[in-house]
Amino acid sequence: MSLPAGRPTVRALQPSLIRKLSNSAIGKTDVIPLWFGEPDKPTPEFIRQAAKDAIDEGQTFYQPNLGILELRQALAHYQNGLYGTALTAENIGVTPSGMTALAVALQCVVAEGAAVVLPSPVWPNLPAAAEILGAEVLRVSLRPRCDAWRLDLDELFDACPKNTGALLINSPNNPTGWMLENDEQRQIIEFCRERDIWLIADEVYNRIVYDRDCAPSFADKVTEDDKYLIVNSFSKSWAMTGWRLGWLTAPKSLIGTLAAVAEFNFSCIFAPTQIAGITALKEGEDFVRASMGRYLAARDMVVSRFAELPRVTLPLPSAAFYAFFSVDGVTDSYAFAERVLHECGVGLAPGAAFGPQGEGYLRLCFAAEPPLLDRALTQMQPLLE
Ligand SMILES: Cc1ncc(COP(=O)(O)O)c(C=O)c1O
Repeated sequence: MSLPAGRPTVRALQPSLIRKLSNSAIGKTDVIPLWFGEPDKPTPEFIRQAAKDAIDEGQTFYQPNLGILELRQALAHYQNGLYGTALTAENIGVTPSGMTALAVALQCVVAEGAAVVLPSPVWPNLPAAAEILGAEVLRVSLRPRCDAWRLDLDELFDACPKNTGALLINSPNNPTGWMLENDEQRQIIEFCRERDIWLIADEVYNRIVYDRDCAPSFADKVTEDDKYLIVNSFSKSWAMTGWRLGWLTAPKSLIGTLAAVAEFNFSCIFAPTQIAGITALKEGEDFVRASMGRYLAARDMVVSRFAELPRVTLPLPSAAFYAFFSVDGVTDSYAFAERVLHECGVGLAPGAAFGPQGEGYLRLCFAAEPPLLDRALTQMQPLLE
Protein backbone atom coordinates (compact mmCIF):
# COMPACT_ATOMS: atom_id res chain seq x y z
CA MET A 1 0.00 0.00 0.00
CA SER A 2 1.32 3.49 -0.84
CA LEU A 3 1.83 6.16 1.82
CA PRO A 4 -1.06 8.59 2.27
CA ALA A 5 -0.85 11.60 -0.09
CA GLY A 6 -3.40 14.10 -1.39
CA ARG A 7 -5.43 13.86 -4.59
CA PRO A 8 -3.34 14.01 -7.80
CA THR A 9 -4.13 17.67 -8.59
CA VAL A 10 -2.91 18.76 -5.19
CA ARG A 11 0.12 16.46 -5.26
CA ALA A 12 1.16 18.06 -8.55
CA LEU A 13 1.35 21.56 -7.01
CA GLN A 14 4.89 22.94 -7.03
CA PRO A 15 5.95 24.28 -3.62
CA SER A 16 6.94 27.96 -3.74
CA LEU A 17 10.62 28.39 -4.64
CA ILE A 18 10.70 31.53 -2.49
CA ARG A 19 9.70 29.49 0.57
CA LYS A 20 12.11 26.71 -0.41
CA LEU A 21 15.04 29.13 -0.48
CA SER A 22 14.04 31.02 2.67
CA ASN A 23 13.43 27.76 4.57
CA SER A 24 16.99 26.74 3.71
CA ALA A 25 18.20 29.79 5.66
CA ILE A 26 16.11 29.26 8.82
CA GLY A 27 18.35 29.85 11.82
CA LYS A 28 20.80 32.00 9.84
CA THR A 29 20.78 35.35 11.65
CA ASP A 30 23.06 37.32 9.31
CA VAL A 31 20.82 37.35 6.21
CA ILE A 32 19.28 40.59 4.92
CA PRO A 33 15.82 39.29 3.96
CA LEU A 34 14.53 40.98 0.80
CA TRP A 35 12.76 37.90 -0.59
CA PHE A 36 9.22 38.38 0.75
CA GLY A 37 6.78 41.01 -0.44
CA GLU A 38 5.98 43.00 2.63
CA PRO A 39 6.64 46.40 4.18
CA ASP A 40 9.42 46.31 6.78
CA LYS A 41 7.43 48.38 9.29
CA PRO A 42 4.76 47.00 11.64
CA THR A 43 1.13 48.09 11.24
CA PRO A 44 0.65 51.71 12.44
CA GLU A 45 -0.16 52.07 16.12
CA PHE A 46 -3.64 53.61 15.66
CA ILE A 47 -4.74 50.54 13.70
CA ARG A 48 -3.33 48.12 16.25
CA GLN A 49 -5.05 50.07 19.05
CA ALA A 50 -8.46 49.75 17.39
CA ALA A 51 -8.11 45.96 17.39
CA LYS A 52 -6.91 45.90 21.00
CA ASP A 53 -9.94 47.97 22.06
CA ALA A 54 -12.27 45.58 20.25
CA ILE A 55 -10.73 42.59 22.03
CA ASP A 56 -11.05 44.34 25.39
CA GLU A 57 -14.72 45.03 24.62
CA GLY A 58 -15.22 41.28 24.14
CA GLN A 59 -15.86 41.33 20.39
CA THR A 60 -15.01 37.68 20.02
CA PHE A 61 -18.17 36.25 18.44
CA TYR A 62 -18.98 34.86 14.98
CA GLN A 63 -19.57 37.52 12.33
CA PRO A 64 -21.54 37.71 9.03
CA ASN A 65 -20.09 35.72 6.10
CA LEU A 66 -19.47 38.78 3.95
CA GLY A 67 -18.02 40.90 6.74
CA ILE A 68 -19.29 43.53 9.18
CA LEU A 69 -21.66 45.88 7.36
CA GLU A 70 -19.73 48.97 8.48
CA LEU A 71 -16.54 47.57 6.92
CA ARG A 72 -18.30 46.70 3.66
CA GLN A 73 -19.75 50.23 3.55
CA ALA A 74 -16.36 51.75 4.30
CA LEU A 75 -14.77 49.70 1.49
CA ALA A 76 -17.42 50.82 -1.00
CA HIS A 77 -16.95 54.43 0.10
CA TYR A 78 -13.14 54.16 -0.09
CA GLN A 79 -13.22 52.80 -3.64
CA ASN A 80 -15.84 55.33 -4.74
CA GLY A 81 -13.48 58.06 -3.51
CA LEU A 82 -10.57 56.61 -5.50
CA TYR A 83 -12.37 55.82 -8.75
CA GLY A 84 -15.61 57.83 -8.81
CA THR A 85 -17.63 54.59 -8.82
CA ALA A 86 -21.07 54.07 -7.26
CA LEU A 87 -20.35 50.87 -5.36
CA THR A 88 -22.41 49.95 -2.29
CA ALA A 89 -21.90 47.41 0.50
CA GLU A 90 -23.76 44.89 -1.71
CA ASN A 91 -20.78 44.91 -4.09
CA ILE A 92 -18.32 43.93 -1.35
CA GLY A 93 -17.33 40.69 0.37
CA VAL A 94 -14.65 40.79 3.05
CA THR A 95 -12.20 37.87 3.13
CA PRO A 96 -9.43 36.63 5.43
CA SER A 97 -6.62 37.89 3.11
CA GLY A 98 -6.16 38.79 -0.51
CA MET A 99 -5.02 35.20 -1.05
CA THR A 100 -8.39 33.89 0.17
CA ALA A 101 -10.19 36.51 -1.92
CA LEU A 102 -8.40 35.06 -4.93
CA ALA A 103 -9.20 31.46 -4.01
CA VAL A 104 -12.85 32.27 -3.33
CA ALA A 105 -13.16 34.29 -6.56
CA LEU A 106 -11.86 31.33 -8.55
CA GLN A 107 -14.14 28.90 -6.70
CA CYS A 108 -17.12 31.10 -7.56
CA VAL A 109 -16.57 31.07 -11.31
CA VAL A 110 -14.06 28.50 -12.55
CA ALA A 111 -15.22 24.95 -13.25
CA GLU A 112 -12.91 21.92 -13.29
CA GLY A 113 -11.30 21.57 -16.72
CA ALA A 114 -11.85 25.23 -17.66
CA ALA A 115 -8.86 27.24 -18.87
CA VAL A 116 -7.60 30.19 -16.83
CA VAL A 117 -5.40 32.55 -18.82
CA LEU A 118 -2.97 34.88 -17.07
CA PRO A 119 -0.07 37.23 -17.87
CA SER A 120 3.22 35.95 -16.43
CA PRO A 121 5.68 36.28 -14.66
CA VAL A 122 3.27 36.45 -11.77
CA TRP A 123 3.04 35.70 -8.04
CA PRO A 124 2.92 31.88 -7.94
CA ASN A 125 -0.23 31.77 -5.80
CA LEU A 126 -2.40 32.97 -8.70
CA PRO A 127 -1.82 30.00 -11.01
CA ALA A 128 -1.70 27.60 -8.04
CA ALA A 129 -5.13 28.74 -6.78
CA ALA A 130 -6.57 27.90 -10.22
CA GLU A 131 -4.68 24.60 -10.47
CA ILE A 132 -6.08 23.42 -7.11
CA LEU A 133 -9.54 23.60 -8.69
CA GLY A 134 -8.46 21.42 -11.61
CA ALA A 135 -8.34 24.35 -14.06
CA GLU A 136 -5.88 24.39 -16.95
CA VAL A 137 -3.56 27.39 -16.52
CA LEU A 138 -2.26 29.11 -19.66
CA ARG A 139 0.39 31.80 -19.35
CA VAL A 140 0.95 34.73 -21.68
CA SER A 141 4.36 36.42 -21.49
CA LEU A 142 4.90 39.92 -20.25
CA ARG A 143 7.99 41.20 -22.08
CA PRO A 144 10.53 43.87 -21.20
CA ARG A 145 10.56 46.43 -24.01
CA CYS A 146 12.12 49.92 -24.01
CA ASP A 147 12.92 49.78 -20.31
CA ALA A 148 9.42 48.69 -19.17
CA TRP A 149 7.37 45.50 -19.13
CA ARG A 150 4.55 45.21 -21.68
CA LEU A 151 1.65 42.89 -22.45
CA ASP A 152 0.61 42.33 -26.05
CA LEU A 153 -3.19 42.30 -25.84
CA ASP A 154 -3.62 40.44 -29.13
CA GLU A 155 -1.36 37.74 -27.79
CA LEU A 156 -3.47 37.59 -24.62
CA PHE A 157 -6.73 37.32 -26.53
CA ASP A 158 -5.33 34.77 -29.00
CA ALA A 159 -4.21 32.62 -26.07
CA CYS A 160 -7.80 32.14 -24.82
CA PRO A 161 -9.19 28.79 -25.99
CA LYS A 162 -12.94 28.07 -26.31
CA ASN A 163 -13.10 26.65 -22.79
CA THR A 164 -11.64 29.76 -21.12
CA GLY A 165 -13.37 30.25 -17.79
CA ALA A 166 -11.51 33.34 -16.65
CA LEU A 167 -8.84 35.86 -17.42
CA LEU A 168 -6.80 36.33 -14.27
CA ILE A 169 -4.87 39.58 -14.37
CA ASN A 170 -2.59 40.94 -11.69
CA SER A 171 -1.98 44.65 -12.32
CA PRO A 172 0.07 46.29 -10.82
CA ASN A 173 2.07 43.13 -11.16
CA ASN A 174 4.14 41.22 -8.67
CA PRO A 175 7.04 40.74 -9.50
CA THR A 176 7.63 43.11 -12.44
CA GLY A 177 5.83 46.31 -11.39
CA TRP A 178 4.09 46.30 -14.80
CA MET A 179 0.70 47.98 -14.88
CA LEU A 180 -2.23 48.04 -17.32
CA GLU A 181 -3.32 51.43 -18.63
CA ASN A 182 -6.99 52.53 -18.72
CA ASP A 183 -7.36 51.96 -22.43
CA GLU A 184 -5.96 48.43 -22.19
CA GLN A 185 -8.39 47.63 -19.38
CA ARG A 186 -11.30 48.79 -21.54
CA GLN A 187 -10.18 46.49 -24.37
CA ILE A 188 -9.92 43.56 -21.96
CA ILE A 189 -13.44 44.11 -20.63
CA GLU A 190 -14.76 44.38 -24.17
CA PHE A 191 -13.07 41.06 -25.00
CA CYS A 192 -14.54 39.38 -21.90
CA ARG A 193 -18.01 40.63 -22.82
CA GLU A 194 -17.73 39.35 -26.39
CA ARG A 195 -16.45 35.96 -25.30
CA ASP A 196 -18.57 35.72 -22.11
CA ILE A 197 -15.47 35.18 -19.97
CA TRP A 198 -15.07 36.09 -16.29
CA LEU A 199 -12.46 38.69 -15.42
CA ILE A 200 -10.65 38.24 -12.11
CA ALA A 201 -8.45 41.26 -11.44
CA ASP A 202 -5.87 41.18 -8.65
CA GLU A 203 -5.34 44.82 -7.68
CA VAL A 204 -3.63 44.44 -4.30
CA TYR A 205 -0.86 46.88 -5.31
CA ASN A 206 -3.28 49.58 -6.54
CA ARG A 207 -1.98 52.16 -4.02
CA ILE A 208 1.71 51.50 -4.57
CA VAL A 209 2.26 53.43 -7.78
CA TYR A 210 5.00 55.94 -8.58
CA ASP A 211 3.49 58.37 -11.07
CA ARG A 212 -0.06 58.84 -9.75
CA ASP A 213 -2.25 58.35 -6.66
CA CYS A 214 -3.62 54.96 -7.57
CA ALA A 215 -3.27 52.50 -10.42
CA PRO A 216 -5.91 52.23 -13.15
CA SER A 217 -8.63 49.89 -11.91
CA PHE A 218 -11.22 47.76 -13.65
CA ALA A 219 -13.67 49.05 -10.99
CA ASP A 220 -14.57 52.21 -12.88
CA LYS A 221 -14.98 50.43 -16.23
CA VAL A 222 -17.25 47.51 -15.40
CA THR A 223 -21.02 47.55 -14.95
CA GLU A 224 -23.43 45.45 -12.91
CA ASP A 225 -23.91 43.30 -16.04
CA ASP A 226 -20.23 42.39 -16.34
CA LYS A 227 -18.77 39.14 -15.09
CA TYR A 228 -15.98 40.45 -12.88
CA LEU A 229 -14.35 40.02 -9.50
CA ILE A 230 -11.69 42.39 -8.15
CA VAL A 231 -9.32 41.10 -5.48
CA ASN A 232 -7.79 43.49 -2.96
CA SER A 233 -6.08 43.39 0.41
CA PHE A 234 -5.13 45.43 3.46
CA SER A 235 -1.69 43.78 3.49
CA LYS A 236 0.38 46.08 1.31
CA SER A 237 -1.22 49.55 1.54
CA TRP A 238 -1.59 49.60 5.34
CA ALA A 239 1.31 47.27 6.28
CA MET A 240 -1.11 44.61 7.55
CA THR A 241 0.35 41.43 6.03
CA GLY A 242 0.02 39.33 9.19
CA TRP A 243 -3.59 40.26 9.91
CA ARG A 244 -5.00 38.38 6.91
CA LEU A 245 -7.65 40.79 5.70
CA GLY A 246 -8.76 41.31 2.12
CA TRP A 247 -11.88 41.91 0.09
CA LEU A 248 -13.66 41.24 -3.19
CA THR A 249 -15.60 43.70 -5.30
CA ALA A 250 -18.19 42.04 -7.54
CA PRO A 251 -21.56 42.62 -9.23
CA LYS A 252 -24.43 42.57 -6.72
CA SER A 253 -25.93 39.52 -8.45
CA LEU A 254 -22.91 37.43 -7.38
CA ILE A 255 -22.91 38.40 -3.71
CA GLY A 256 -25.32 35.65 -2.58
CA THR A 257 -23.07 33.03 -4.15
CA LEU A 258 -20.06 34.69 -2.60
CA ALA A 259 -21.66 34.48 0.86
CA ALA A 260 -22.25 30.74 0.41
CA VAL A 261 -18.70 30.10 -0.81
CA ALA A 262 -17.40 32.21 2.10
CA GLU A 263 -19.47 30.19 4.61
CA PHE A 264 -18.02 26.90 3.38
CA ASN A 265 -14.41 28.15 3.30
CA PHE A 266 -13.85 30.37 6.32
CA SER A 267 -17.34 31.33 7.59
CA CYS A 268 -16.29 34.72 8.94
CA ILE A 269 -13.43 36.92 10.11
CA PHE A 270 -12.40 37.89 13.64
CA ALA A 271 -14.24 41.14 14.50
CA PRO A 272 -11.18 43.00 15.90
CA THR A 273 -9.38 42.39 12.60
CA GLN A 274 -12.30 43.88 10.71
CA ILE A 275 -12.44 46.85 13.07
CA ALA A 276 -8.73 47.40 12.42
CA GLY A 277 -9.65 47.45 8.71
CA ILE A 278 -12.34 50.10 9.25
CA THR A 279 -9.81 52.24 11.12
CA ALA A 280 -7.22 51.79 8.35
CA LEU A 281 -9.73 52.98 5.75
CA LYS A 282 -10.97 55.95 7.77
CA GLU A 283 -7.70 57.19 9.25
CA GLY A 284 -4.94 55.59 7.21
CA GLU A 285 -4.61 57.84 4.17
CA ASP A 286 -1.63 59.77 5.57
CA PHE A 287 0.12 56.47 6.26
CA VAL A 288 -0.48 55.25 2.68
CA ARG A 289 1.00 58.45 1.26
CA ALA A 290 3.97 58.49 3.62
CA SER A 291 4.76 54.87 2.70
CA MET A 292 4.74 55.82 -0.98
CA GLY A 293 7.35 58.50 -0.31
CA ARG A 294 9.59 55.89 1.34
CA TYR A 295 9.14 53.34 -1.46
CA LEU A 296 9.83 55.94 -4.14
CA ALA A 297 13.14 56.91 -2.50
CA ALA A 298 14.03 53.23 -2.11
CA ARG A 299 13.15 52.44 -5.72
CA ASP A 300 15.24 55.31 -7.03
CA MET A 301 18.18 54.25 -4.90
CA VAL A 302 18.05 50.65 -6.17
CA VAL A 303 17.60 51.81 -9.77
CA SER A 304 20.60 54.15 -9.62
CA ARG A 305 22.85 51.59 -7.90
CA PHE A 306 21.94 48.89 -10.45
CA ALA A 307 22.55 51.37 -13.29
CA GLU A 308 26.23 51.37 -12.26
CA LEU A 309 26.44 47.61 -12.85
CA PRO A 310 26.73 46.81 -16.58
CA ARG A 311 25.73 43.15 -16.10
CA VAL A 312 22.43 44.09 -14.44
CA THR A 313 19.28 45.05 -16.37
CA LEU A 314 16.31 46.42 -14.45
CA PRO A 315 13.20 47.50 -16.40
CA LEU A 316 11.84 50.45 -14.37
CA PRO A 317 9.05 49.28 -12.02
CA SER A 318 6.19 51.77 -12.29
CA ALA A 319 4.33 50.21 -9.35
CA ALA A 320 4.63 47.73 -6.42
CA PHE A 321 7.84 47.53 -4.38
CA TYR A 322 10.00 45.09 -6.30
CA ALA A 323 13.11 45.34 -8.45
CA PHE A 324 12.84 42.43 -10.93
CA PHE A 325 16.24 42.37 -12.58
CA SER A 326 18.32 40.08 -14.77
CA VAL A 327 22.07 39.52 -14.60
CA ASP A 328 24.04 38.85 -17.76
CA GLY A 329 24.93 35.18 -17.99
CA VAL A 330 22.51 34.01 -15.28
CA THR A 331 20.16 31.33 -16.58
CA ASP A 332 19.37 29.43 -13.37
CA SER A 333 17.80 31.98 -11.03
CA TYR A 334 17.43 29.54 -8.11
CA ALA A 335 21.11 28.59 -8.20
CA PHE A 336 22.09 32.25 -8.46
CA ALA A 337 19.78 33.26 -5.57
CA GLU A 338 21.46 30.53 -3.51
CA ARG A 339 24.84 32.11 -4.29
CA VAL A 340 23.54 35.58 -3.35
CA LEU A 341 22.31 34.08 -0.09
CA HIS A 342 25.48 32.21 0.82
CA GLU A 343 28.16 34.51 -0.64
CA CYS A 344 26.54 37.93 0.01
CA GLY A 345 24.15 37.23 2.91
CA VAL A 346 21.15 38.67 1.03
CA GLY A 347 17.83 36.88 0.54
CA LEU A 348 16.32 37.41 -2.93
CA ALA A 349 13.41 35.60 -4.62
CA PRO A 350 14.46 33.56 -7.69
CA GLY A 351 12.64 34.64 -10.86
CA ALA A 352 11.72 31.03 -11.68
CA ALA A 353 9.28 31.17 -8.74
CA PHE A 354 7.09 33.41 -10.91
CA GLY A 355 6.82 30.99 -13.83
CA PRO A 356 9.04 30.09 -16.78
CA GLN A 357 8.79 33.70 -17.97
CA GLY A 358 10.63 34.79 -14.80
CA GLU A 359 13.63 32.47 -15.25
CA GLY A 360 16.90 34.41 -15.45
CA TYR A 361 15.55 37.16 -13.17
CA LEU A 362 15.74 37.88 -9.45
CA ARG A 363 13.29 39.82 -7.31
CA LEU A 364 14.40 42.20 -4.61
CA CYS A 365 11.74 43.74 -2.34
CA PHE A 366 12.80 47.32 -1.65
CA ALA A 367 10.19 48.07 1.04
CA ALA A 368 13.05 48.42 3.51
CA GLU A 369 15.00 51.16 5.27
CA PRO A 370 17.70 52.87 3.09
CA PRO A 371 20.68 51.83 5.30
CA LEU A 372 19.61 48.17 5.10
CA LEU A 373 19.12 48.38 1.33
CA ASP A 374 22.45 50.13 0.99
CA ARG A 375 24.17 47.33 2.92
CA ALA A 376 22.43 44.64 0.84
CA LEU A 377 23.43 46.33 -2.43
CA THR A 378 27.01 46.75 -1.26
CA GLN A 379 27.24 43.10 -0.19
CA MET A 380 25.83 41.93 -3.56
CA GLN A 381 28.04 44.18 -5.67
CA PRO A 382 31.06 41.83 -6.05
CA LEU A 383 28.80 39.06 -7.38
CA LEU A 384 26.88 41.36 -9.72
CA GLU A 385 29.89 43.20 -11.14
C1 LIG B 1 -0.16 39.82 -6.52
C2 LIG B 1 -0.60 39.47 -5.15
N1 LIG B 1 -1.88 39.19 -4.94
C3 LIG B 1 -2.34 38.88 -3.73
C4 LIG B 1 -1.51 38.84 -2.64
C5 LIG B 1 -2.11 38.42 -1.34
O1 LIG B 1 -1.91 39.25 -0.27
P1 LIG B 1 -2.48 38.84 1.15
O2 LIG B 1 -2.88 37.41 1.11
O3 LIG B 1 -1.38 39.11 2.12
O4 LIG B 1 -3.66 39.71 1.39
C6 LIG B 1 -0.13 39.10 -2.82
C7 LIG B 1 0.81 39.00 -1.70
O5 LIG B 1 2.02 38.97 -1.85
C8 LIG B 1 0.33 39.43 -4.11
O6 LIG B 1 1.61 39.71 -4.34
